[in-house]
Amino acid sequence: MTKLIKHPLIEIKLTKMRDENSSHIVFKKNLNEIGSLMVYEILRNYKPKVKKIKTPTNSITNGKTFNNDIVIVPILRAGLGMVAGIETLIPQAKIGHIGIFRNNKTFQVEEYFYKIPIVSKKAEIIVVDPMLATGVTAINAINKIKKDGYKNIRFVCLVAAPEGLLKLEKKHPDIDIYIVAIDKKLNDKKYIIPGLGDSGDRIFGTK
Ligand code: URA
Repeated sequence: MTKLIKHPLIEIKLTKMRDENSSHIVFKKNLNEIGSLMVYEILRNYKPKVKKIKTPTNSITNGKTFNNDIVIVPILRAGLGMVAGIETLIPQAKIGHIGIFRNNKTFQVEEYFYKIPIVSKKAEIIVVDPMLATGVTAINAINKIKKDGYKNIRFVCLVAAPEGLLKLEKKHPDIDIYIVAIDKKLNDKKYIIPGLGDSGDRIFGTK
């Protein structure tokens, strides 16, 4: 199911990211802050386990703690820009990486890196990429993670193109998709319009 997360703070931060005059410092800062704000919603239905603790008043009380591993999996390279923001709220999260792209000549999807921490197949896997454009890389990244046996996978991005979102929903109807904006369309170079440009370049200042 797709969950569109709406919040004025997110809209203000996303506007800063869309602005072509924002530097990579501003872009990265706002991307990470949106990542932190999104986590709150992403884990809304997470079921923590009971943890008995003793408080400074010598009282025993039942609190809550994480009950399984949480793994953030950025799709390289732009997904890296969301990791720090999510880690702020889940510092114990482990990090996997997936390097995947669509070859512009062959149009085939090529994977060049894949490493997921050794965790239970019941771990919460949070796949992140700021942009969902054609949907091809997200679909293939999730295929790969599912093939490895992981069951609890979510996909988190900022801006989606309607066509990419539809494709991802169709291929992986069991996955929860979290986004903050659905834009108008893709242009002929597969960039999201109005979008925010090449998110990797804007995060890392490579352009
Ligand atoms: N990836 C980006 O970084 N930007 C787009 O608009 C589409 C894909």
